[in-house]
Amino acid sequence: MAAELVNVNEFQELARQALPKMYYDFYSGGAEDQHTLRENVEAFHRIIIRPRILVDVRRIDMSTTILGYHTSAPIMIAPTAMHKLAHPEGEVATARAAAACNTIMALSFTSTCTVEEVASSCNAIRFFQLYVYKRRDISALMVQRAEKNGFKAIILTVDTPRLGRREADIKNKMIVPQLKNLEGLLLAEVVSEKGSNLEAFASQTQDASLCWKDIAWLKSITNLPILIKGVLTREDAIKSLEVGVAGIVVSNHGARQLDYVPASITALEEVVLAVQGKIPILFDGGVRRGTDIFKALALGAQAILIGRPIIYGLAAKGEYGVRRVIEMLKDELELTMALSGCCTLKDISRSHVRTEHERRQCRL
Ligand SMILES: Cc1cc2nc3c(=O)[nH]c(=O)nc-3n(C[C@H](O)[C@H](O)[C@H](O)COP(=O)(O)O)c2cc1C
Repeated sequence: MAAELVNVNEFQELARQALPKMYYDFYSGGAEDQHTLRENVEAFHRIIIRPRILVDVRRIDMSTTILGYHTSAPIMIAPTAMHKLAHPEGEVATARAAAACNTIMALSFTSTCTVEEVASSCNAIRFFQLYVYKRRDISALMVQRAEKNGFKAIILTVDTPRLGRREADIKNKMIVPQLKNLEGLLLAEVVSEKGSNLEAFASQTQDASLCWKDIAWLKSITNLPILIKGVLTREDAIKSLEVGVAGIVVSNHGARQLDYVPASITALEEVVLAVQGKIPILFDGGVRRGTDIFKALALGAQAILIGRPIIYGLAAKGEYGVRRVIEMLKDELELTMALSGCCTLKDISRSHVRTEHERRQCRL
């Protein structure tokens, strides 16, 4: 009998065994030297928790609201592309797991199930992640379809004017499958003799001219709240406030775009301080443990999103695997809260963590 899985990291090896190398490399890889990829995880290890003792922790409440939507925990599913490469049921299985766990799923623009299929599969609360294409009509149509199908917010990803250089995909000549969402709108089949077809596809489609003034355009075509995903600096946090978005996702795209940007967790507090509580700040990148979630919340995130572990769960065990990943993280967060003397998310404060920077200052 196979040994019981005890943490989400263990799904990665199962996914590696289950997937063709080209797809596993696509999911797991980062850009260039993959420095930021390692840092996304390792920077969490350098943050220390300062627990409080002698608190009655018989009841722990992890529930919260995100943009007004109630969830069982501050954990969301990040938008990640092409779930059917991981499992035949694709994004529908992921959405069902989100519904079972009472959490929010962000559906990727480049999904392999349509917004309609995902919407009709279950009652999960869904946000729609948007890329702005050179063909603005396609992006506008996708926003309309998401709105019509009950998606509750638009997550505009802004860190991808061009695709980051993912060397494994180049070596493997990564092939883009038919993106069902875009069927009839755009041919995903780009055949590039050289390197990654994904890169060739992105350079044909992504609008590299997208800039701050275009937020007004997006607002003019939708009534949904807009979150900007990919903010890493105080300068861009302030601009996000100026253009009037509903929230920010601090993210470096799972270290798949520009290498040597800071680990997301290192950038989080800078953004939090710039925004001064005016809009919610979500966070993703490198979250693998309940303690990671606790640290991100202590540094000011309202909720976190999970990318790769969800895909690994899906690849290893379908919908059940995704559910297990979320449940494991919830269980770990609950235990972390109990052992830190925090009964509700509001109890988690800045003084519950000490960053590497603060620890260095103490030694001086
Ligand atoms: C395989 C893969 C595909 C992704 N596809 C998208 C995407 O389509 N749109 C997007 O905004 N972000 C995408 N991301 C980034 C995730 O939304 C998220 O920022 C990142 O995965 C978080 O880091 P983690 O994987 O360490 O949890 C992708 C990430 C991965 C690993």
